[in-house]
Amino acid sequence: MSVLVTGAAGFIGFNLSLNLLNRGIEVIGIDNLNSYYDISLKNARLSILRKKNNFDFHKCNIADRDTLFGLFGGNDNITCLVHLAAQAGVRYSLVNPYTYVETNVMGQLTILELCKDLPKLQHLVYASSSSVYGGNDKLPFSEDDRVDRPVSLYAVTKKADELIAEAYSQLYDLKITGLRFFTVYGPWDRPDMSAYLFTKAIIEETPIKVFNDGKMSRDFTYVDDIIDGVVRVMDIYSPKEKQNPGHKLYNIGNNKPEKLLRYIQVLEESIGKPAILEFSPMQPGDVLETYADITSIQNDFDFSPRTPIEKGIPKFVDWYKNFYQIK
Ligand SMILES: NC(=O)c1ccc[n+]([C@@H]2O[C@H](COP(=O)([O-])OP(=O)(O)OC[C@H]3O[C@@H](n4cnc5c(N)ncnc54)[C@H](O)[C@@H]3O)[C@@H](O)[C@H]2O)c1
Repeated sequence: MSVLVTGAAGFIGFNLSLNLLNRGIEVIGIDNLNSYYDISLKNARLSILRKKNNFDFHKCNIADRDTLFGLFGGNDNITCLVHLAAQAGVRYSLVNPYTYVETNVMGQLTILELCKDLPKLQHLVYASSSSVYGGNDKLPFSEDDRVDRPVSLYAVTKKADELIAEAYSQLYDLKITGLRFFTVYGPWDRPDMSAYLFTKAIIEETPIKVFNDGKMSRDFTYVDDIIDGVVRVMDIYSPKEKQNPGHKLYNIGNNKPEKLLRYIQVLEESIGKPAILEFSPMQPGDVLETYADITSIQNDFDFSPRTPIEKGIPKFVDWYKNFYQIK
C-alpha cells in the first residue's frame, strides 16, 4: 500500500509526507521543484524525506500527462492519492496567470485521469482553498455558501478543481474529497506567506507592508492541525468495502479569525523585537477576512484544531531561527 503525494517538496506536502512516513506508510512523492520560491528550501525538505527508506521521489510536472502516465499508469500499489501540487499564492496570479491554469487546472485534470488508471486507488484527497469564498461577506464561511464571486485567478482555478472533481467522481465512481485550507502556517512555511515574510522583516529590521492599514483578519491554521485533519480525511486504515464513491468538500481551518495586527504582535513577542510597520492600501485579489465554519469536518472526522497562534507562532519562529542559524 502506497500513498502518492503530489507537491511533496512543498510546505504542506512535506509535512504530510513526513507524518505518513513516520507512521510506517510508503510514500511516493512527486514535485517539479519549480522556482516560484527558493528551491534550496524545497531541497532541504526533500533531503529529510529521502532519509526515510519508505520514501520514493520523482521530479515531474503534474500537467505532463505522458510522463505522469509513464511513471504511474496502471500502478496497483497506490491506494490513496493526496494532490497538493499547485501554483499557490493569490498575488502572483496577477503576475503570471498562465502557470495557474496550467498547473492547477490541467494538473487537476491529469491527476483525475491518472486516478482512473490506478486499479487499487480508494481515495483522492486534493487541496482547494478558502480563496474560493472570494468576496463573500457572510461569516463564517460554510461549504453550503455560494462560491461564484472569485476575486483572483488563483481562486478561479481552485473552484474549477472542485467542479472537475465533482464531475469525475460521478462519471467514474471515484471517491474524492476536496479540502478548503485556511491560511496554513508553521515550520517549513512558504517564503511568500505572512509568517515567513514578517519574521524575516522583523529579524532583519526592515519594514513590513501591512495591507488595508491592518484592517484584515485571517483564520490562521497551524500546520500540525492541518496534517491531523488531512490524515483523518484520508481514512487510510479503512477496508475497501467501506469506501463509497462520491465527492465531498470540507473547510479545514482554525475556526478563530485573528486580526492581522494581533498576529504581528505575537510575532514581535516571539522574536523579541518590534516590527516596523508600513501601512499600505488593500491589494487587488486580497480578501478582508477569512473564517472557517468547520462543523462538517468536526462531525464527520472529529477534527478539532488545537493550536492558537500564541502556541503556533513561537514554534514557527524557532524553526526559522534554527533553519537560518539566527541567534
Ligand atoms: N499554505 C496555505 O496556506 C494554503 C492555503 C490554501 C490552499 N493551499 C493549497 O495547498 C496546497 C499546498 O500548498 P503549499 O502551501 O504547500 O504550497 P507549496 O508551493 O509550498 O507546495 C506546492 C508544491 O507543488 C509543486 N508544484 C507546483 N507546480 C507543480 C507542477 N506543475 N508539477 C509538480 N509539482 C508542482 C511546487 O514545486 C511545490 O513544492 C496547494 O494546492 C495550495 O493551493 C495552501
